[in-house]
Amino acid sequence: MSNKIPIGTVGLGLMGSSIATCILAAGHTVTSLVKGLDQAEEARQRILGYLEELEEEGMLSPGKPREVLGRLTITDDVALLKDHEVVIESIIESVEEKRSVYRRLEAVLSPTAIIGSNTSAIPVTILQEGLQHPERVLGIHWAEPAHITRFMEVICGDQSELRFAETIVSLAESWGKEPSLLRKDIRGFITNRIMYAMLREAFHLVEKGYATVEDVDRSLRNDLGYWITFAGPFRFMDLTGIPAYRTVMKDLFPDLDNSTATPALMEKLVGEGALGVSNAKGFYPYTPESAEHWEKTFIEFSYDIRKLAEKYGRKI
Ligand SMILES: NC(=O)c1ccc[n+]([C@@H]2O[C@H](COP(=O)([O-])OP(=O)(O)OC[C@H]3O[C@@H](n4cnc5c(N)ncnc54)[C@H](O)[C@@H]3O)[C@@H](O)[C@H]2O)c1
Repeated sequence: MSNKIPIGTVGLGLMGSSIATCILAAGHTVTSLVKGLDQAEEARQRILGYLEELEEEGMLSPGKPREVLGRLTITDDVALLKDHEVVIESIIESVEEKRSVYRRLEAVLSPTAIIGSNTSAIPVTILQEGLQHPERVLGIHWAEPAHITRFMEVICGDQSELRFAETIVSLAESWGKEPSLLRKDIRGFITNRIMYAMLREAFHLVEKGYATVEDVDRSLRNDLGYWITFAGPFRFMDLTGIPAYRTVMKDLFPDLDNSTATPALMEKLVGEGALGVSNAKGFYPYTPESAEHWEKTFIEFSYDIRKLAEKYGRKI
């Protein structure tokens, strides 16, 4: 498969936009299928903003943001995806909606065209059910902001053929990603399984009064947050001595929270309409200005951490 094949995407919300940006910046032509063209201009402007950001960071070459944007077509006509060998769906997290998109795609795509889903946690096997060619359906899981992060998980469902997953892994490397391949399907894949285990424990510590939200955040930022871009948990145990972890596991595992209900604090915030910085309502108090400041600083940090990861990635 040629490295600069045209790529299709479906959905131009938060993630769909940054995914399209990443693929455009890597030199592909992108056709994005949307539900209605009313939001097309807003999405185009968002993507232009991301491309300008990449240029400022020296990460857009070759081409100027507007020229690169010229390679994007936004459409509500699925037929325009007909000759695409790879289509990445990033619409709302709904099994029914995603399956209905795949049925429409199957009507126009060749049987060997790859359909990837950016689902956060729906097992790929469930998304494959009822399709004519489930073997070419994969999870292609990105992390926000997808035009900056190096993260990607490529996931095989029960019916996926490994060769399609391997094609996406090598393509994604040319997009600046460092993909992990999951050869077997599991709900939540790698990072979400581990992150949600961490979130459950974080809520437990706060709700049972051991520590405040601020204390939990501060500890994690300065311990796990300090080393994890460099090492990952297994390398970190190698670096710091394995047996001590075994000793702690014996005592600590039985003590960790294993409740299956969503935390009361989470229910309360969601019930109050808290979305986080996007509506200035979250675990912390925000003014519209401070929420915007956090969003901007997160992007600035994302570029810095990417550069650091690349620098140390080259040394090992
Ligand atoms: N937000 C994240 O950090 C994140 C991270 C990893 C994975 N994901 C996953 O990515 C997907 C998209 O998430 P998001 O945060 O971008 O959501 P979002 O709500 O910002 O965007 C969803 C978009 O899908 C569009 N859409 C809905 N039905 C459609 C259809 N039939 N055809 C075309 N477009 C359609 C909506 O108009 C909207 O623009 C979800 O599956 C989510 O679980 C999100």
